[in-house]
Amino acid sequence: MINLGSKKIGMPGWKNENMLSDETLKNIYGQQALQYFNEDNTSLFVFSNSKSFDLIELEQLLQAVGWGRRPLRRVKRALDNSLLKVGLWQHDPKFPRLIGFARCTGDGFIDATIWDVAINPVYQGYGLGKELMSYLMRCLKREGISRVTLFADSDVITFYKRQGWTLEPKGNKCAFWYSN
Ligand SMILES: CC(C)(COP(=O)(O)OP(=O)(O)OC[C@H]1O[C@@H](n2cnc3c(N)ncnc32)[C@H](O)[C@@H]1OP(=O)(O)O)[C@@H](O)C(=O)NCCC(=O)NCCS
Repeated sequence: MINLGSKKIGMPGWKNENMLSDETLKNIYGQQALQYFNEDNTSLFVFSNSKSFDLIELEQLLQAVGWGRRPLRRVKRALDNSLLKVGLWQHDPKFPRLIGFARCTGDGFIDATIWDVAINPVYQGYGLGKELMSYLMRCLKREGISRVTLFADSDVITFYKRQGWTLEPKGNKCAFWYSN
């Protein structure tokens, strides 16, 4: 049983003695990685937009949330052609474990569309999905991309609504656009 608590990441000035040094963080997870501890400081989670993925591990994650198997060759091409890939890892110095993922396609300047948002079921309900979306949106904003869309299944609409996403005007296609 994990206890992730409710502590949020990225609080200015928030420090933890078990945090990775900037250099270690950068070496393992890349330049813009972000650390997140659970409430009792026992598990370290890291968001990254540049750490590479083990394709088999990624597909296992996506299958764990109930999505169908896809040919790895095609998945690799899709990732190569994506604008942004964001991973969430449970940190381990030797074997970080991928527990969350999302990616975007787009033109790189104006529009982006979010796909494949997933958190491993064991880790769902602790705020990590929300933080993953927030990290992803910050990455897009950094690139000046402000118009972002996604297509949500009807059973996760509330997840996005709580983060400020708005249902597309007619509200019947489950497409969302980001208002800010
Ligand atoms: C959707 C998903 C990414 C959410 O991740 P998560 O880590 O469980 O979500 P969080 O814990 O960050 O939840 C944030 C908020 O959204 C709510 N929420 C989470 N999942 C929800 C769902 N399926 N339906 C409605 N609300 C949901 C939470 O209650 C929470 O509300 P709060 O801020 O008022 O406390 C995760 O459940 C998942 O991977 N689902 C399977 C794959 C999927 O459907 N992806 C979306 C494709 S469109």
